[in-house]
Amino acid sequence: MVRIAARGTEAETRRVRRHVAVSAAITALGGLLFGYDTGVVSGALLFVKKDFGGLSSFQEELVTSLLLVGAVIGALAAGRVSDRIGRKLTVLITAVVFIVGVLLAAFTPTYPTLLVARIIIGLAVGSASMIVPLYIGEIVPPRVRGGLVSLNQLAITVGILGSYLIDYGLSGTGNWRLMFGLAAIPAAALFIGMLFQQESPHWLIRQGREDGARQVLRRVRSESDIDAEIREVREISQREGGLRDLVSRNVRPLLTVGVLLAVFQQITGINTVIYYAPTLLQGAGFGNSGALLANVVNGVVNVSMTIVAIWLLDKVGRRPLLLSGTAGMAVGMTITALSFLGGENLHGTLAIVAVLGLLIYTGSFAIGLGPVFWLLIAEIYPLKIRGAAMSVASMANWAANFVVTISFLTLLSAIGGVGAFFLFGFLTLVALGYFWRKVPETKGRSLQEIERDLTHSHAA
Ligand code: BGC
Repeated sequence: MVRIAARGTEAETRRVRRHVAVSAAITALGGLLFGYDTGVVSGALLFVKKDFGGLSSFQEELVTSLLLVGAVIGALAAGRVSDRIGRKLTVLITAVVFIVGVLLAAFTPTYPTLLVARIIIGLAVGSASMIVPLYIGEIVPPRVRGGLVSLNQLAITVGILGSYLIDYGLSGTGNWRLMFGLAAIPAAALFIGMLFQQESPHWLIRQGREDGARQVLRRVRSESDIDAEIREVREISQREGGLRDLVSRNVRPLLTVGVLLAVFQQITGINTVIYYAPTLLQGAGFGNSGALLANVVNGVVNVSMTIVAIWLLDKVGRRPLLLSGTAGMAVGMTITALSFLGGENLHGTLAIVAVLGLLIYTGSFAIGLGPVFWLLIAEIYPLKIRGAAMSVASMANWAANFVVTISFLTLLSAIGGVGAFFLFGFLTLVALGYFWRKVPETKGRSLQEIERDLTHSHAA
């Protein structure tokens, strides 16, 4: 009897895991689009420039950075929208906005229309960046939440790497319209796949639709866990409050943690490495193809170490990965900075050391701050204001990304590669100190337990 029951439970666990993994993978297509659309522009710009009769560097800059402006707005809007109309519908709308934006970019007749298209794509990227972890976080069981939410980060890194490879593959023909337009395929897949997914059970309970929530939970939880989860979520849903809660005594410290994680994720320099590495390496005496190759290797390290993170997050927890990853980033940055000390033109061993430093940096980001930021903001906020609070943290991430991206080249000419890398290394150490003191562990606990623990400890 006992053996049969155990086997029954095992089969049930496997069924649940399969179901939630498929849901998470479909939703993570939003992450793929986030990575692809932010990465594709560097290669596409070379050819856009030619077609529109030469663009000034400011005009080029606009094509890149207007996406980030759109993302700030998209991230801000998506949280409130998803609290109101539901997580699933928000993902569906996001997919439609993606499709409209990338098709407009692909068929754009003029340069100004391309700018409009980039803003529209940005709206979708910003929205996807928060709604994907939010939805996955609520639909999957606690024990596998870290890994499955971080499928989103894996998809981001695959999207970035895929965009390099597609830019490279299409560079012979210079077909920048196709570079932009190809993103319509995953966007359509996201839309169709999402039509077959369920609404988040937590959102349904909050709306008082417990029967609907129970139906969803039957697919994504073991039978024995369902009643307790409905009861717990109902209880936290009944708490008074609304948007004002965002700045209440309980939530404010958590909001600060989310926003600072967001800002540190960007001001420690990840996107300067991801987007400017070829420029930096060319400047340092690498040939064109050497610089591009180093970039692809960097992308592969980013993807591979994210896979390691997914494997470890639910085993060792968020904090150990975040802390060791951030320490590794500081080591990588320092190595790269030191290799530039003797002058900005690198040869032989020093060139290899510089690249190794960058790889250590990226690999360490991928195992810690990359996935852990997006995961934690899906875990630490009370259900009542989860969407809105995640919006604030994601918006801070995009705004910081914008500031760093737009000022990096100026920073580089002001303080040089050595100065910039030491600065990032220093900021990484400051981040490490903050994370050590303030970032909570969330491994293995249900979102309800986390909410109880965190809002109480902060109220005390
Ligand atoms: C960050 C992005 C970054 C990417 C790199 C994400 O977690 O938010 O800004 O480009 O990781 O893998």
